[in-house]
Amino acid sequence: MPRIAPYAELFKDPKGPGDIRPTAAKIVQDQGLVDSPEWKGRVVLITGCSPGGGLGPETAKAIRLTGADIYITNRDINKGKQVAEELLADGKQAGKVEVLEMDLSSLRSIRAAAQEFLRRSGNKLNILISNAGVMAPPYSKTEDGFEIQFGTNHLGSTRPPSTPRQQYLTLL
Ligand SMILES: NC(=O)c1ccc[n+]([C@@H]2O[C@H](COP(=O)([O-])OP(=O)(O)OC[C@H]3O[C@@H](n4cnc5c(N)ncnc54)[C@H](OP(=O)(O)O)[C@@H]3O)[C@@H](O)[C@H]2O)c1
Repeated sequence: MPRIAPYAELFKDPKGPGDIRPTAAKIVQDQGLVDSPEWKGRVVLITGCSPGGGLGPETAKAIRLTGADIYITNRDINKGKQVAEELLADGKQAGKVEVLEMDLSSLRSIRAAAQEFLRRSGNKLNILISNAGVMAPPYSKTEDGFEIQFGTNHLGSTRPPSTPRQQYLTLL
C-alpha cells in the first residue's frame, strides 16, 4: 500500500491551515521515520530555505526528524544560516545541516553551488527538493538575460543539455 494512502480521507473536506490534514512532520512521525536507520546518511538538498515559514524550511524541519543530512540553499547566505540555526536548535546529534549560497537567477552561481555541494557531500545526492522559485515578479532579467520567472523557475532548476550532469542540481 502506498504510504500516503492512510491520509486520503483527511483531505476530503479541507478547512484551511490547522485542520485535520497531516503536516509533513506528522507523516514522518506516523511512518516511524524519526531517527530512522533507513534515512541516516541520506543526503537531501533543498533549494530556497528562507526564514519565515515557507515550504522550504518547513520541509527541512520534517526531514530533519529522520536524521538525514540536509543541505539547504539560499541566494542570501545569511538567511540560510538563520534557518540552519533554527534546525540545529533541536540539539540532535544525527544529521548534518549545511548551507550553500545559490542564486537561481545566475547560471554561474548555480554551477558554483553545485560543485561546492558535490565536494561537501562526497558526490552524494539522494533527494533534491527544487523548492526555490518566484511567482509573477515585476519584469526583469536574470544575469544571463532571460526573463526572471522563466530563468529562475525553469532554467534555474533544469539542466541545459550542454551542462555536465555533475555540475547541475537536477532530478534528470
Ligand atoms: N505557497 C503556495 O501556495 C505555492 C503554490 C504553488 C507553487 N508554490 C511554489 O513553491 C515554492 C515555495 O513556495 P513558498 O510559498 O514557500 O515560497 P517563498 O516563501 O516565497 O519561498 C521561495 C524561496 O525561493 C527563494 N528564491 C526566489 N528566487 C530565488 C533565486 N533567484 N535564487 C535562489 N532562491 C530564490 C526565496 O528566497 P528569498 O527569501 O531570498 O526571496 C525563498 O527562499 C515556490 O517555488 C513557489 O513558487 C507555492
